[in-house]
Amino acid sequence: MNRSSVLERLRAAAPVIAPSMLKCDFGNMHREMQLLADADAAVFHLDVMDGHFVPNLSYGPMVINSLRTMTDHPFDAHLMISNPDRFLDDYIDAGCDLITIHIEAVPDPTSLLQRIKSADVGCGLALNPGTPVSKLLPYLDDCDLVLVMSVEPGFGGQSFIPDAIPKIAQLRQLVGSEKLVSVDGGIGEATIARTAAAGADIFVAGSAIFDAHDYRAAIRQLVELASGAARTV
Ligand code: DX5
Ligand code: ZN
Repeated sequence: MNRSSVLERLRAAAPVIAPSMLKCDFGNMHREMQLLADADAAVFHLDVMDGHFVPNLSYGPMVINSLRTMTDHPFDAHLMISNPDRFLDDYIDAGCDLITIHIEAVPDPTSLLQRIKSADVGCGLALNPGTPVSKLLPYLDDCDLVLVMSVEPGFGGQSFIPDAIPKIAQLRQLVGSEKLVSVDGGIGEATIARTAAAGADIFVAGSAIFDAHDYRAAIRQLVELASGAARTV
């Protein structure tokens, strides 16, 4: 899917629940993706961890390339890796539709964001809980999406950090309605409405979906809670 199509599709589908595939059954990825597509998941969030930028390992471009043969659904790749410049082409070639890199991983993301866009892929910038919004300011014009981490990156199943709320609100005000604002970590029934009210439109959820077993019911419930939240920003 080309960049403008995937961005348009996500904007139109908001609020978008993006299942974090970190929590799925890795022995049955094809079936997991089918179940999620049947449950109306609009996009799959792929958490890439290198054991260096974050203290955990997940999967890389070879696995994503293989998943690509199993589904047409958009892939939202979240690169929690050091030196993303070195590996970027592998993720582009693997068929990611959105690629998000961390501001903490690069001194200046401008050229990387340009490379992603030149490949007709949507580009995002993520910021960790300890990183202020001000670090993103010089690069907001260059990205299609901003991703606010509401847990320390590396592991699913952590508690939501409320400091993410004012960051979401601030970023939504800064980027207007054209760009996507995503929130990642600890999103569930107890937290999603607050993030929706602050202006997020993509909600990454791992435990809240995969611990529920009935993916359709879990996603529907999250969509309802996000849709029902009155936007304050
Ligand atoms: C954390 C990842 C998240 C995480 C979400 O580093 O980026 O996508 O797996 O999982 P939950 O929803 O369980 O916090
Ligand atoms: Zn993620």
